[in-house]
Amino acid sequence: MSDAMSEKAETLTVYRRLFAFAGREKWKLLGGLLLGGLSSLATVSYAKAAQYAIIAIEDRSVQLLGLHRIQVLGLAILGIFVLSLIKNAAQYGGGYLMTSVGQQVLAKLRLAFFSRVEYLPLRVFDQWRAGELMSRFSNDGGLLVVGVMQFPLFVQAVITLVFGIPVMFYLDWKLTLLIILTGAVVALAVSRFSSLLRSFTQHSLMKTADLNAMLQESLDSMRVIKAFSREPHEIQRFSERNDSFLGAALKLAQISITQTPVVDFIVTLGIIVILGASAYEIVLGIKRPDQVVQFLALVLVASNPINQLSNYYVDLNKARVAAQRVFEVLDLPIEEPDAPGAQELISPRGAVAFEDLHFAYVPGHEVLRGVTADVKPDNVVALVGPSGAGKTTLVNLIPRFYSATSGALRVDGINVNDLKLASLREIIAIVPQDPLLFSDTIERNIRYGKLDATPAEVEAAARAANAHQFIVEFPEGYNTLVGARGVRLSGGERQRVSIARALLRDPRILILDEATSSLDSESEALISEALGRLFVGRTTFIIAHRLSTIRRATLILVIDRGRVVETGTHSELLARGGLYASLHERQSLEPVRTA
Ligand SMILES: Nc1ncnc2c1ncn2[C@@H]1O[C@H](COP(=O)(O)OP(=O)(O)OP(=O)(O)O)[C@@H](O)[C@H]1O
Ligand SMILES: [Mg+2]
Repeated sequence: MSDAMSEKAETLTVYRRLFAFAGREKWKLLGGLLLGGLSSLATVSYAKAAQYAIIAIEDRSVQLLGLHRIQVLGLAILGIFVLSLIKNAAQYGGGYLMTSVGQQVLAKLRLAFFSRVEYLPLRVFDQWRAGELMSRFSNDGGLLVVGVMQFPLFVQAVITLVFGIPVMFYLDWKLTLLIILTGAVVALAVSRFSSLLRSFTQHSLMKTADLNAMLQESLDSMRVIKAFSREPHEIQRFSERNDSFLGAALKLAQISITQTPVVDFIVTLGIIVILGASAYEIVLGIKRPDQVVQFLALVLVASNPINQLSNYYVDLNKARVAAQRVFEVLDLPIEEPDAPGAQELISPRGAVAFEDLHFAYVPGHEVLRGVTADVKPDNVVALVGPSGAGKTTLVNLIPRFYSATSGALRVDGINVNDLKLASLREIIAIVPQDPLLFSDTIERNIRYGKLDATPAEVEAAARAANAHQFIVEFPEGYNTLVGARGVRLSGGERQRVSIARALLRDPRILILDEATSSLDSESEALISEALGRLFVGRTTFIIAHRLSTIRRATLILVIDRGRVVETGTHSELLARGGLYASLHERQSLEPVRTA
C-alpha cells in the first residue's frame, strides 16, 4: 500500500516538475481548459438539440416559443450545426493552446537536459555511457512528445465527463449511476494495467538505451572493429541486445493493446444494460422515446471519453516514466559550484604548487599518494614515469576536472577549490594526447580557443603551429570540414590544429599530453618546432614520451605509483642513476631527434 502511495507521490512530483517548466505560459493552459469546457458544453448540448428534433418529428402539435413543428425542427438542426461549429472551433483553440504549452515545456526540458549534461563533472562520464544519455534525450524525449500531444485530448475528455455527468444525473439518475459504476470498473481495470505498463515501459526504455549505447560505441570504434574484422562479433552482440529489446517491446505492446479491448468491452456491457433498461422504460411508458434518445446521446458522449481516457492514460503513463528518466539526468550533481567568496585570478602568473596531493577515482584506491612539487611561473615541466603512474591524473587536477581527496593544489598561491572554475579554466589550455576536433571547419576548430579572434589572429596561430601550410593546400582552405572528430585530417595535422587552438587561447598554463603514437618524421619535426613556440612565456606541463620534448623542460618530475620520486634536470637525473636513468636507458634505443 505504501508502495502505491509513494508511486502516487512520485507521479505528482513528476507532473509538478513538468508543470513548473511551463513558466509564464501557464495562463495558456487555463485558456485551453476554458475552451475545452466550452467545447464539452457544446457537445453535451447536442443531446438537447437532438431531443427537440425528435420531438418535432414525432409530435405534430408541438409548439415551442411560439414556433411551428417545422420551425422547431429547423431550429434544432441549425442548433446542431452551430454547436458543431462552436465545439470544433473551441476544440481547435484549446488544443492549440495546450499543445503549444506542451511543446514549449519540451523545448525547455531539452535545453535544461543539454545544459545539465554540459556541466556534468567528468566523473559522471566515467560511469554513464554516452549512448545512454543520448537515448534518454531522444527516445524518452519521444515518449514525452506523444504524452504532451495527448494531453489536450486527455483534458478534453475529463471536461466532457465533468459536464456530461451532471446533465445525465438530471435526466435519469439511476442510469447515470450505472454509467458511473461502469466508469469505476474501467478505472479499476486501468489502474491494474498502469503499474504493469509503467514497469514494462521502464524496462523497454532501458533496453532501448542499451541498444543505442551499443550502436554509438560501435560507431566510435569502427576503426578497431574493422582492424580486427570483428563485424560479425559486433553484429552478434547487437543482435543479442536487439532480441532483448524486442522482448521488452513486445511485452509493452501486449500490455498497451490489451487494455483498449478490455475497456471497450466493459463500456459496451454498460451500454447494453442501459439500452435494455431504456427499452423497458419505453415499453412500460415511464419514458417517451425522445427522452431516451436524448439520454442515449449523452451516454455515447460519456462513453467515448471513458474509452479515450483509458487510451490516453497509457500514453501518459509512458510519458511519466520517460519524464522520470529525464529528470534523473537533470538531477545528476553538476560540477561543484563555486564556493561562496570564490576568487578570480587577476593578472595570473601561472605558479602551480602541489602540496601532499592525494586522489582516488574509486574510494579506497589511491592513484595519487602525496604529490608535492612547486612549479614556478614560465617553467616547462616534464612529467615522466611508467604507464599508469598517475601523470594524466595529476594534470587533470589542475583545471579541476577532478577534485583532490586531500592536500592542496594552488595556482598563484590560491587553492583551486577557492577559485572560480571559469576563471581557473580561462587561463589553461590543453593539447590532449588524441586531439579531438569538432565536426566543423578548420577555422572554427582553431577559433574554439578564442571565440572572438579575428581571421588574422586565427591565421597567425595556424602559422605558429606550422598548420597554415597544409591548410591552404586544401581547396577549401580554412573552410575545410574536418569530419566527425577530425577524421578527415591526418594525426599530425589534427595535432597542429589543436596546437593552433591552444596558441590562440594564449594560456598562462599549458597542459600537453604528448601523443605516444609515432608520427612521420616530417610532421614530428613540424610539431616539435611548433611546440617550442608554444612553451615560451607560460607555465607548461608536458607528459613527455620523446626525449626531444623532455630536453626542453626546465624541470623533470619523475612520477611512480602516484608519487614524485625524483626531480631535477635531464643531466641531474641521469647522473642520479634512478628510475629516470633506467627509463631513459630503455628509451634511448629509439632514434633521438633534436629540434
Ligand atoms: N577515469 C578513471 N576511473 C578510474 N580509474 C582511472 C581513471 N583514469 C585512470 N584511472 C586509473 O588511475 C591510474 C593512473 O592513470 P593515469 O591515466 O593517470 O596514468 P598515466 O600515468 O597517465 O599513464 P599513461 O602513461 O599510460 O598515460 C591507473 O591505474 C588507471 O587505471
Ligand atoms: Mg596518461
